[in-house]
Amino acid sequence: MSGTLAIIGGTGLTELPGLTIMKAHDEQTPFGAPSAPVLEGEMYGQRVLFIARHGHPHRIPPHLVNYRANLWALQKLYATDILAVNAVGGISRNMKAGTLVIPQQIIDYTFGREGTIYDGDYAPVSHIDFSYPYSDSMRELIARGASTAGEKVINGGVYGVTQGPRLETAAEIFRMENDGCDIVGMTGMPEASLARELKLNYASLSLVVNPAAGKSSGAITIRQIDENLSTGIVRVRKIIDAMVKD
Ligand code: HPA
Repeated sequence: MSGTLAIIGGTGLTELPGLTIMKAHDEQTPFGAPSAPVLEGEMYGQRVLFIARHGHPHRIPPHLVNYRANLWALQKLYATDILAVNAVGGISRNMKAGTLVIPQQIIDYTFGREGTIYDGDYAPVSHIDFSYPYSDSMRELIARGASTAGEKVINGGVYGVTQGPRLETAAEIFRMENDGCDIVGMTGMPEASLARELKLNYASLSLVVNPAAGKSSGAITIRQIDENLSTGIVRVRKIIDAMVKD
């Protein structure tokens, strides 16, 4: 990688043990404070940035994350490429718990989130192209990292982003499936579009931690989510390692 990789750690990834931290930046931004200090460190001789999306410890719910501040702070610290890690529910039949996905498309069901830097205040009104919301080069880099690490990933799929923090109803998931969603999470937007506005190469590595509502016989339990998170995050870390090492 020629630029600087930044990792946005989601639920289950509030720290990156492989990162030798050189500095914790308490950035102030025109949009307020980011979720946590941006950690600047080194991995395999490369400069890497890391931020915990929900704070460290995990305390900010998805709808209250200051996405604008997080992305702005990463750009200010010269990030060029962003790997977002997201925990999601599985909708399509092949999205079983434990599956790793590099989504290709997004449907945004969120509402009321501060989602643009082009608000007519910080920057004049402008409309970005968002036909293909993720960076192909970044998706490719993740896929290569997974292959080097010997980790199977599904390369493609539609990420439906819900408002949360509650999980969905079975009918909502049924509707999302009909819309074409393969996975469901709460943090994919407006992160992806802000990255595009700020001209950052952004893609997601999503970990399926539960079958979405109505996709299994019982209720969705936090215990089940936590178990899948702790085994899955180890594999996410291996992929990040391979991506940086390469
Ligand atoms: N729905 C929304 N967000 C999620 C889920 C889910 O089932 N699992 C993890 N994040």
